[in-house]
Amino acid sequence: MAENWVNLAERIGADLHLQLPGGGGRRAALTRALRAAVRSGRLAPGTRLPPYRSLAADLGLARNTVADAYAELVAEGWLTARQGSGTRVALGAQPAPARQAARSAGGRSPGPAHDLRQGQPDASSFPRAAWLASARRAVTAAPNEAFGPGDPRGRPELRRALAEYLARTRGVRTDADRIVVCSGFAHALRLLFGGGPLTGPLAVEGYGLPFHRGLLEQAGVRTRPLTVDGDGARVDELSKAERAVLLTPAHQFPTGGPLHSRRRTAVVEWAAASDGLILEDDYDGEFRYDRQPVGAVQGLAPDRVLYIGSASKSLSPAVRLGWMVLPDHLVDGALKAKGEREAWAGVLDQLALADFLDSGSYDRHVRRMRQRYRARRDRFVTALAEQAPHVHVTGIAAGLHAVLRLPPGTETAALEAATRAGVAVDGLSMFRHPAARLPPEDGLVVGYATPPDHAFENALQALVHVLARPELSRRTGAGSP
Ligand SMILES: Cc1ncc(COP(=O)(O)O)c(C=O)c1O
Repeated sequence: MAENWVNLAERIGADLHLQLPGGGGRRAALTRALRAAVRSGRLAPGTRLPPYRSLAADLGLARNTVADAYAELVAEGWLTARQGSGTRVALGAQPAPARQAARSAGGRSPGPAHDLRQGQPDASSFPRAAWLASARRAVTAAPNEAFGPGDPRGRPELRRALAEYLARTRGVRTDADRIVVCSGFAHALRLLFGGGPLTGPLAVEGYGLPFHRGLLEQAGVRTRPLTVDGDGARVDELSKAERAVLLTPAHQFPTGGPLHSRRRTAVVEWAAASDGLILEDDYDGEFRYDRQPVGAVQGLAPDRVLYIGSASKSLSPAVRLGWMVLPDHLVDGALKAKGEREAWAGVLDQLALADFLDSGSYDRHVRRMRQRYRARRDRFVTALAEQAPHVHVTGIAAGLHAVLRLPPGTETAALEAATRAGVAVDGLSMFRHPAARLPPEDGLVVGYATPPDHAFENALQALVHVLARPELSRRTGAGSP
């Protein structure tokens, strides 16, 4: 039996895994899945179900399908529907005893009620129909040789489509031959440093993703942090001893500012003068709200910059596709690290992504999500200004997350209070390089793109209530990055 797992952040409670069995009609599958969730205790008596429209959007179903499924379960006594209080699990609908015992004996714990962790786009907005259409067209049109062992460079259809897209939207200067497809940014780091063409030491930003620092450490690469301020990384701290620097120029991760144009020029001059290389992590360059998009540094110096992008923020981290645009002399080294055959990036997904780009679906999806995230960002900023005006919000001109600056010494208390309120967020300090020279700063990194639309407002209110607590309400100082 084919099974389709969907993750639904339920309107008022914990995450719920709904299992939609394959075969039969969608409405019958949904009623079976909801019955099973009530019977197993995953949906407790009294739990309020999401509105039809939200559930339909989350599951990729028609609104009427959800409305009919709810009506059927109301008629059977599993659910109750009352004007003004929505649809709820009926109080008499008790979980089966065996399941109840398993839960009280320490069954799987539910996820956070309000997930505002940075790092992923709204998973419920994945463009299912357009992706399926692309996959169908691409697989139908692909030549037979596409279904043989994959070429480690990646499919030519995808590399051509990326060369066009990146030139048009990010100002990247490349042809398809200098693009190597990979499974994302993390994979690119592994390929470049773990037996690939690069070695340390590597200059990095004083704030960055600990996971990436860990990968570099595992590959034996020593990293040296550059100070980060409101204009991005202090590239004047680079020395001739370093051979390469890793930067997030469009949107410093996680503090959020773009690298100042003077520093963009300065880092390119440093690379030229010291035979250095710039690794450009363009993880969310498409999502810029207040200004014209900041083009890629790669466009200034294609022979000095390794540009790395990924579908993880624009589409979904589940796609596991990324791309490196390399200076000519590094292409062979990166390919050698991959081996003779493609082992990571599935050809079927590469073909689908190529069609998704060529058909304009990628542009349309990014534009739609940009509008949606901008609206959330604006709502987030307004709610904070009204209810927790002491909190200073930064890094909001772009991307899928914001940084909230907190009074010194309050980050741990804020995180603990958030956990008690069922709100999952990250503390700013976990992103700070252990050897960074600036004093630690207190803050929260909030992924406002993470929840599905129907759960966003509740998550936002839960966070704002935490921040409005008196012990977290002292005014912060100015001058943070
Ligand atoms: C700073 C940064 N770079 C790159 C990525 C993309 O990583 P990957 O392509 O490995 O999913 C992320 C996470 O989404 C990130 O936060």
